[in-house]
Amino acid sequence: MVKNTSIIDFPCWTDEKGSLVAVEAEDTIPFPIYRVYYIFDVGAKERRGFHSHLDLEQALVCVNGSVSILIEDDVASESVVLDDPTRALYVGPMVWREMYDFSDDAVLLVLASRHYEPSDYEKDHGRFQEKARAYFQQHESERR
Ligand code: TYD
Repeated sequence: MVKNTSIIDFPCWTDEKGSLVAVEAEDTIPFPIYRVYYIFDVGAKERRGFHSHLDLEQALVCVNGSVSILIEDDVASESVVLDDPTRALYVGPMVWREMYDFSDDAVLLVLASRHYEPSDYEKDHGRFQEKARAYFQQHESERR
């Protein structure tokens, strides 16, 4: 997968009464939850996101309907379809994201590791690529 991303399968309790998913911070997902927001009523042709974050970690869950997420690191990109309320896309720092193909009934829930900080955003794709190259080179050399 694209660097600093992964799929997290949430535990789900299903019985004759229905289904329940519980998410525990720093357990089911690897970070403390400082903010929750959700995106809905998005037109089928709309595309959102177009940014990366310097420090923020997020878990994206499509709790109803479906949506596609384009994720990109310094060298690779891929699209992930979210259409299952028991499955999250983890997106860490320095990953470009775009959200598109929202179904009419899509509700995209986002759990975030920090409060809203406009200064944590990189919205210019060219600058994102430069910063991502430097960031991942540094991280890869630290791991060696
Ligand atoms: P925006 O970043 O444009 O959404 P997207 O990344 O999905 O395209 O956010 C839309 C508006 O909501 C913008 O005015 C900023 C505001 N906003 C907050 O006030 N708090 C938040 O936590 C987020 C994510 C956005």
